[in-house]
Amino acid sequence: MKITLSDRMSNFETLIFSELSNYKKQKIHNGLDIIDLSIGSPDLPPPSFVINELSMHAQNPTQYGYSLTGTKEFYDAVSHYYENSFSISIDAEKEVVMTMGSQDGLVHLPMVLTNPGDIILVPDPGYTAYQAGISLASATPYFMPLKKEKQFLPDLDAIPEEVRIKAKIMILNFPGNPVPTLATKEFFEKVVTFARKYNIVVLHDFAYSELYYDEKPISFLSIDGAREVGIEFNSLSKSFNLAGCRIGYAIGNSFVIEALTRFKSNIDYGVFTPIQKAASLALKQSGHFSGELRQVYKNRRDRLVSGLHEIGWKVESPPASMFLWAKVPDHYTSLSFAYKLIDEAGVVVTPGHAFGQEGEGYVRIALVQDEETLARAVQKIKESNIF
Ligand SMILES: Cc1ncc(COP(=O)(O)O)c(C=O)c1O
Repeated sequence: MKITLSDRMSNFETLIFSELSNYKKQKIHNGLDIIDLSIGSPDLPPPSFVINELSMHAQNPTQYGYSLTGTKEFYDAVSHYYENSFSISIDAEKEVVMTMGSQDGLVHLPMVLTNPGDIILVPDPGYTAYQAGISLASATPYFMPLKKEKQFLPDLDAIPEEVRIKAKIMILNFPGNPVPTLATKEFFEKVVTFARKYNIVVLHDFAYSELYYDEKPISFLSIDGAREVGIEFNSLSKSFNLAGCRIGYAIGNSFVIEALTRFKSNIDYGVFTPIQKAASLALKQSGHFSGELRQVYKNRRDRLVSGLHEIGWKVESPPASMFLWAKVPDHYTSLSFAYKLIDEAGVVVTPGHAFGQEGEGYVRIALVQDEETLARAVQKIKESNIF
């Protein structure tokens, strides 16, 4: 029998992350000491009170049916969290939908809002799942370059009129992955005006909302008129180290939330109820834990940035998120430099072009190892004499 794949599958090539991971495994197999700073998966545990809540409910045999949707308890907790953390009131009945990680919502929303050929405005470089969602919907991406000279914010004025007219969604992500930028209030206000004028739904990905070091990131929903034009995705993966639990949510425009809820009711059966209970508790008691988590990442950031500066790699210190977005030295591409770091220093980072054309010339370094390991990574780079 001959099995053929759909044409669509040509959009789902093996990501550079898997290639690097295989290369890394081969090196480890050959006995090399490798430090992996490439993946954005938290290495730290969730709060113990959240683990306890999860295990307590997991012991209850009645909790194993389909949950179907988000529970009222979870939606109330999201509403409480936004009120508490951002002074934003959310109607827990109409303005929230639970997702299986924010990724679930991010990749499916284009199918809810666009027809084939409609344009989706997307940051370049940007988180890889945006492109997956665009491909699933057979929509057309229009890449908004994030340039250093524009403070890594998309230049809305540079988007041609014919693109604006055909655009149905604008994807934004602040603090961003891979570029750890914060949005300004003025930028978000401009986005609201732009979106309203051209009937574009704004999807703000706020997955790194709790990982900031000085200035607190702005929720898109705090901007006047934002709820009329868009939704915000948030997640418990990075804020509470619950990445493996696959729980996130979208909040905002009730029409969009209702449509996404309807779509999801046709494709999944919800998140395990004990996970929803544990996530609800995390959202209700976030304060203390988030502060401690930020301090851990801040210490890591400072240790790594100062170490790299000392050996001559003048990386910028990120104001938020768990990533450094570092320029590669002259005469290297992102990829050639990433391989050089593995081969000669035993340190794995992600080449910037994996996140889009504009990522060329950069690598992303994730703060996913403890301070001592980061210091060791610096030492290994120093000994490689690349700098
Ligand atoms: C910018 C961004 N958005 C969304 C996600 C997806 O997170 P999750 O599906 O775990 O909520 C990630 C994960 O790395 C991310 O970096």
